[in-house]
Amino acid sequence: MNDAAPSTQPETFYLKDYAPFGFVVESVELTFRLAPETTRVLSKIRFAPNPDAPDRHFFLHGEKLKLISSRINGEAVTPVLTDTGLTCDVPDQPFTWEAEVEINPQANTALEGLYMSNGMYCTQCEAEGFRKITYYPDRPDVMSTFSVRIEGEEKVMLSNGNPGDRGAGYSEWHDPWPKPAYLFALVAGDLVNHPDRFSTGSGKDVELNIWVRPGDEDKCAFGMEALKKSMTWDEEVYGREYDLDVFNIVAVDDFNMGAMENKGLNIFNSSCVLASPETSTDANFERIEAIIAHEYFHNWTGNRITCRDWFQLCLKEGLTVYRDAQFTADMRSAPVKRIEDAIDLRARQFPEDNGPLAHPVRPEAFQEINNFYTATVYEKGAEVIGMLKRLVGDEAYYTALDLYFERHDGQACTIEDWIKVFEDSTGRDLAQFKNWYSQAGTPRVSVQDSYEGGTYTLTFRQTTPPTPGQDHKDPKVIPIAVGLLNPNGDEVVPTTVLEMTKAEQSFRFEGLSARPIPSILRDFSAPVILTRETSAEERAFLLAHDTDPFNRWEAGRELAKASRIAMVTEGASPDAQYLDALQSLVRDDALDPAFRALVLSPPSESEIAQALADQGVTPDPDAIHDAAETFAQTLAQNLSDSLPRLFAATKVEGPYKPDARDAGLRALNGRILALLTRIDGAEAAAKQFETADNMTVQNTALACLLKAEKGEAQSQAFYEQWQDDRLVMDKWFALQVATARPERAPGVAEALTRHPLFTIKNPNRFRAVMGALSMNHAGFHQADGSGYRLLADQLIALDPLNPQTTARMCTALQTWKRYDADRQEKILTELKRIKAVDGLSRDTNEMVSRILD
Ligand code: ARG
Ligand code: ZN
Repeated sequence: MNDAAPSTQPETFYLKDYAPFGFVVESVELTFRLAPETTRVLSKIRFAPNPDAPDRHFFLHGEKLKLISSRINGEAVTPVLTDTGLTCDVPDQPFTWEAEVEINPQANTALEGLYMSNGMYCTQCEAEGFRKITYYPDRPDVMSTFSVRIEGEEKVMLSNGNPGDRGAGYSEWHDPWPKPAYLFALVAGDLVNHPDRFSTGSGKDVELNIWVRPGDEDKCAFGMEALKKSMTWDEEVYGREYDLDVFNIVAVDDFNMGAMENKGLNIFNSSCVLASPETSTDANFERIEAIIAHEYFHNWTGNRITCRDWFQLCLKEGLTVYRDAQFTADMRSAPVKRIEDAIDLRARQFPEDNGPLAHPVRPEAFQEINNFYTATVYEKGAEVIGMLKRLVGDEAYYTALDLYFERHDGQACTIEDWIKVFEDSTGRDLAQFKNWYSQAGTPRVSVQDSYEGGTYTLTFRQTTPPTPGQDHKDPKVIPIAVGLLNPNGDEVVPTTVLEMTKAEQSFRFEGLSARPIPSILRDFSAPVILTRETSAEERAFLLAHDTDPFNRWEAGRELAKASRIAMVTEGASPDAQYLDALQSLVRDDALDPAFRALVLSPPSESEIAQALADQGVTPDPDAIHDAAETFAQTLAQNLSDSLPRLFAATKVEGPYKPDARDAGLRALNGRILALLTRIDGAEAAAKQFETADNMTVQNTALACLLKAEKGEAQSQAFYEQWQDDRLVMDKWFALQVATARPERAPGVAEALTRHPLFTIKNPNRFRAVMGALSMNHAGFHQADGSGYRLLADQLIALDPLNPQTTARMCTALQTWKRYDADRQEKILTELKRIKAVDGLSRDTNEMVSRILD
């Protein structure tokens, strides 16, 4: 069983096969002798037989390790080595395992385990990277305290927990909290810190640091404020305090994901922590604040209480995403955050849930767990928590959370444990609710209404289409928040949560004097696709009057989609009623500017393609793009008289502040500039570029100019100004691809892959170009297949270096079944070309195989 699976038949792991490890780990001592190509790792681990385990098979994971020596209770042993680890005969009582291994951080381009980024050592161990550092039972249910000694010449050498002894050439750390190996971290390099302090609710003084490369010191202040706000918020809202003497954050340039919650030593992709007004946009600031919060919140939801196995990933990720969303809603605007999250869920999770990669929030099988850090596990996982909270109510939710922390602190848990806490504390039976965790696919909810004798009836039907490996779907518990308005816009029934549990179900509202206008699925109360046959008049009414901001926005979104679809399928003109509604909204100064900016943001072309496919129409990416252009052009022309005035009136005065108010106003101003650029020969955009004193307005101006194909000089100027700033250069790369006319996009992207500053080894840079191409819908889906071909070429080049990022980028091809036979065939050709690559990674092989299935 421990032999490496032949590359044609990768091993599949199943939830149902869970068994505890045969041993418990009582303590871990590690010594690192750092050298870029020959780092030595010495481990000393106390094992004891695990009375709860079915067998005592001693298997330690280990990959790409050179075993120098190993001992049990001080005596040399000769274990049996395989590609995935080692086995060894061990005593029937507690014993000490010691090993010395050699690893090569310099050669580690996969960015998993111990690797080097710009001359600095760092680690990424989640999910299964620790086995590339030393031999160990690398599974989250094996928890232990860690003591670490780092030997090297680096100025700063960090690990988890509290600092211990430190001297010339070494630094020691001790983490008193038992943790799984995936939370281990080590960083060493020429770093400088931005220090601060925090005093916890119970008066404990905590040292805080953000560690960065020299030169980045001026980009730490915002992240530090976000950290302190997160610490305060978690105390106030969840009653959770920090539990070590220090909290360190490190910024790393080469990182596969956003960030990592290692105990006491969070490691961040530099794009997710470094911020300054000159180099970061408002969107960057908001995202940084959210990710700092997310990683910090993991200290309780993830670290103090972790996952029994990786199938339970949503236990920590769904909950922590939910918590960071609550935090952002509290720090900024709750309705705006909710709308942003719905846009994001529909853009990333719905395609996953409705395609070949669909999997339950708690998956039941995987080949490579890194492929399951998905929008479904994270974002749908967070939606599931939101539904649970809506069903039990706020108070019961926080009571259940208190019980969760009390009952499971220090444990590695399952979704069953989580659900049980809610059942025990509320007395509710949540058996049916668990379907949200076990059954994949986005439920379709249709609704019909009737009014008779003062009684208004809403009748809902739910169905979930089959997903790979799951033909049958049971009805889910769906909380449907509903409000009723009367024709003058007053609310006659305030928001009420209807609890749908059956395939078909009616709900009655009595004593109404007139037929009401329903506002359904308020605040996006469930991650479902709601369909309702209704008139454009009613949608326009809700867009003007709904008291629920989410549904007010949603009504506009529905109008936008309907108009766009009519343009594509019937050659209709942009809907006049919708254009009128937009014009009055954009001028309505009583409305939050951020909200107006969202209403003015058109649905993405990919979203229109999906909507068409849902109606059985094969989407034509070029036609969808043309409709989007025509619509925007018409809106700009209709508004032409007021655009210059609106542009001036929404300009933010004074020094740059990244707060929600100013950011919202800048977002609206940016939407208006985009429209204005369509009618003023790009004059205003050029002027804004000239005078820009922050990245938000500079970036917006350049985007408008490039889109108008009038930005060559400014693009050059931008390049010269920022060529030494990696994060700003990522924007420069991405913008050119994102704004390119469809027929030019693949060529622009291809040329950029040959630019001297392009490097396939840096995930941010790779994503800047290839991610932007995959998101330029009509560009990526050029009929000649050049977009697909370029992506496949790049993925084939990246796979041997970095399987994780390669596999993740394959998702760009997951929607292939939407398109016409010609495009399908071209995508299939590329998928098969990737699959045929000799020595293809397990990561990419699994993704491509699932997409092809
Ligand atoms: N736990 C991290 C977070 O959510 C993500 C780490 C994912 N890493 C990976 N290799 N899949 O913040
Ligand atoms: Zn997380």
